[in-house]
Amino acid sequence: MELNGTRTLVAGATGVLGGGIARSLQKDGARLVLAGRDGDRLSALARELGDVPTAGFEALDLERCAAVVDEAADHLGGLDLLVVAFGVAAFGPGEEAGDVIIEHLLTVNTMAPMAMGRRAVQRMDGSGTLAVISAILADVPTPGMAAYSASKAGLSAWLTALRGEQRRRGVTVFDIRPPHIETGLAGRALEGEAPPMKEGATRDELVGLVVDGIRDGRRELAFDLQKREWTGR
Ligand SMILES: NC(=O)c1ccc[n+]([C@@H]2O[C@H](COP(=O)([O-])OP(=O)(O)OC[C@H]3O[C@@H](n4cnc5c(N)ncnc54)[C@H](OP(=O)(O)O)[C@@H]3O)[C@@H](O)[C@H]2O)c1
Repeated sequence: MELNGTRTLVAGATGVLGGGIARSLQKDGARLVLAGRDGDRLSALARELGDVPTAGFEALDLERCAAVVDEAADHLGGLDLLVVAFGVAAFGPGEEAGDVIIEHLLTVNTMAPMAMGRRAVQRMDGSGTLAVISAILADVPTPGMAAYSASKAGLSAWLTALRGEQRRRGVTVFDIRPPHIETGLAGRALEGEAPPMKEGATRDELVGLVVDGIRDGRRELAFDLQKREWTGR
C-alpha cells in the first residue's frame, strides 16, 4: 500500500509501540487520526505531530471502539488503514486468575480489536489494511501468562479467519506477533509480576518492520524463538 496520503487510524497511540508506529507513518506521509485512553498523553502526541485529530476511547466499552472508527473515517473522508496497538498484560498462575481479570483481558485484547476491525473493514471501500499487534503468545502460549496468552491467541485466530474472508475484497489483514520488547508493558500489568524475559527486539526494530510490512502488503510478522529471527509472509 502507498503510505503517502493513506487515511489512517492508530488506536493505542499513547502506548510505546503505537506512538512509534504513528510517528513513523506520519513521516511517510500518512494522514492520521490518533485514538487513545490517556487524554494528556494523547494530546501531547497530537501536538508533537502537528495538531493531528484525536479520539478518546476506553477499550472495555466495545460500542465506543466501533464509534471511534466511524469518527476517524468521517474525519478523513474514508479509511485505508487501521493500526491496533493497544493491549494489556496480566501474570500469575493460570488457576489463580479471577473472572474479572480474565474478562478484562479478553475484552481489551480480543473483543475490542475485533470491534474496531469489524467496523474498519466495513468502512474501507474495497481495499485497505488492518494491522493488528497480537503477540508471540498466540504461537507460544506461555506458563505464567495463561489468560494473557489466550486473549492473544483468540485475536490471532480471528485475524486469520478474517484474512481469508477479506482477500477477494482487497483488504489485507496483517497479524503482528512480536516477542518481548522493553516498553514497560509488563510493569503496567493488571496483576502479577512478569517472569524474567529476554528481549527479542527493540521498539525501533519492530516499528520499522511494521511500517515496512504495511507498505509491502504483508500478512504476518512472527518471531522464531529458537533461531531468534523474524519470520512472516
Ligand atoms: N511490549 C511487548 O513486549 C509486546 C510484545 C508482544 C505484543 N505486545 C502488544 O503490543 C501492544 C502495545 O504494547 P506496548 O508494549 O506498546 O505497551 P504500552 O506502552 O503499555 O501500550 C499499551 C497501550 O494500550 C492502551 N490500553 C491499555 N488498556 C486500555 C484500555 N482499557 N482502553 C484503551 N486503551 C488501553 C494503553 O493506553 P494508556 O496510554 O491510556 O494506558 C496504551 O496505549 C499490546 O497489545 C501488547 O500486548 C507487546
